[in-house]
Amino acid sequence: MNQPSVLFVCLGNICRSPLAEAALRAEAVAAGLAITIDSAGTGAWHAGNPPDPRAIAEAARHGIDISGYRARQVREDDFRHFGQIFALDPQNLRDLKRIAPGSLLGRARARVSLLMDLVPGREGSAVIDPYGGTEEDFAAVWDDVTTAVRQLVARIGR
Ligand code: 4NP
Repeated sequence: MNQPSVLFVCLGNICRSPLAEAALRAEAVAAGLAITIDSAGTGAWHAGNPPDPRAIAEAARHGIDISGYRARQVREDDFRHFGQIFALDPQNLRDLKRIAPGSLLGRARARVSLLMDLVPGREGSAVIDPYGGTEEDFAAVWDDVTTAVRQLVARIGR
């Protein structure tokens, strides 16, 4: 069986999707699962930049160093390379579906869905964009992405 591969996508790839990436990396290690994991943004404004300092601080509170992560924009090849692509909010999901290579011509294999759809009772909901917010908003992002990736690890692990 191919190793599972997961890409998280938000808008800037400096706040939410790096935290989702970090949370899944930690949970995969804890569960002893080998998973290819990355994150990207639908936008390119922050490409090459490290995560937002508040995201770095939030990950550090959980013992994880994400200061070496660098933002990048999602690309067509991601839809072939990754088995699953999770959008952090419904707008990211709409944008991803617009960016996805045509399903008839492309060899897209990625399943594209909303991250919070993994969490019973949270289907259809966003991981709220914390960019214009406070430290507490980053803590709420951590809680959401951790809850979601635990569901994912349970699913991959069985
Ligand atoms: P992210 O947050 O999508 O969670 O990385 C944002 C980062 C940057 C911007 C918006 C959201 N921005 O407008 O630059």
